[in-house]
Amino acid sequence: MAENQKILFIDDLPGVGPATAEKLREAGFDSIEEIAIASPAELAAATEMGENTASKIINAARKAADIGNFERGETLLERRKSIEKITTGSKALDELIGGGIETQSITEVYGEFGCGKTQLVHQLCVNTQLLKEEGGLNGSVIMIDTENTFRPERISQMATSLKLDANDVLKNIYVARAYNSNHQILLMDKAIDLAKEIKDTDKPARLLIVDSLTAHFRSEYVGRGTLADRQQKLNKYMHNLLQFGNLYNAAILVTNQVMSKPDTFFGDPTRPIGGHIVGHTATFRIYIRKSKGDKRIARLVDSPSLPEGEVVFRITPEGITDE
Ligand code: GTP
Ligand code: MG
Repeated sequence: MAENQKILFIDDLPGVGPATAEKLREAGFDSIEEIAIASPAELAAATEMGENTASKIINAARKAADIGNFERGETLLERRKSIEKITTGSKALDELIGGGIETQSITEVYGEFGCGKTQLVHQLCVNTQLLKEEGGLNGSVIMIDTENTFRPERISQMATSLKLDANDVLKNIYVARAYNSNHQILLMDKAIDLAKEIKDTDKPARLLIVDSLTAHFRSEYVGRGTLADRQQKLNKYMHNLLQFGNLYNAAILVTNQVMSKPDTFFGDPTRPIGGHIVGHTATFRIYIRKSKGDKRIARLVDSPSLPEGEVVFRITPEGITDE
């Protein structure tokens, strides 16, 4: 396991194999936290393991448990102050989400096919490289492409219309294709290695993109029985993404499709894949719908700190622009 990857599930604890994990879950010890506060005797009774082994597992869980520490308000304010934002290319869209795509947070962009998620992703690959006074972070971009939709030609087009050197811009975008959900998960370790490697250069990684977050998970985990497993993997993945964001003061941008929910009587009968697992970890959720021609409607959904609202933007040959 990579140095930065945290133990999030009981299966990852040293000494816990699949059979033990199953027994622990059956006995109600289904999180690291619950094991961390258990006694060796309790754990031993539940799983038929010896108390010695139980102690070892409890110790590992205590180390891994993120029960949280108290921090001074001052420290929190300092951390908040280091948050930076990347412009989307549309002032209206920036304003909707509080000034741009934020670092240390996950922004989820969802909507049906062709609504412009991947176009927005391309624009942010370019905009991250703008100078800070131009709305960028003067940094590199790491992208996990699960659908093979990254187009360097489109990057060139967008870069040129911002009067940037297209080759320079392409140099600072690192793209990896993910062939399935496991591969997608493994690429997170690679992303961390890469970010470490370029941390002290003049173009550190400031944006990590996963386009699409859910497509592989959705196609591989079909049927009711696999849903819990899928959600657990997605949950862990989202937490790894957030950790990356905090570690490198990077913005995290993920895309997600919608599925139709035929039993909806009011409002829009679509909802994002992954449901509350993805939704609760993402700080900003932007729902994009098609409008006339190249116009798109973006709505900010479920934000704890910003008012819900809608704005219109456009996808032009130059890239994302205001209406
Ligand atoms: P899925 O990945 O299939 O869910 O869709 P998506 O939301 O990622 O859609 P995407 O961003 O690929 O948007 C496709 C739409 O963007 C097209 O229908 C066009 O309207 C527009 N578009 C794509 N490429 C270009 C381009 O090079 N120039 C312009 N002007 N528009 C483009
Ligand atoms: Mg796409």
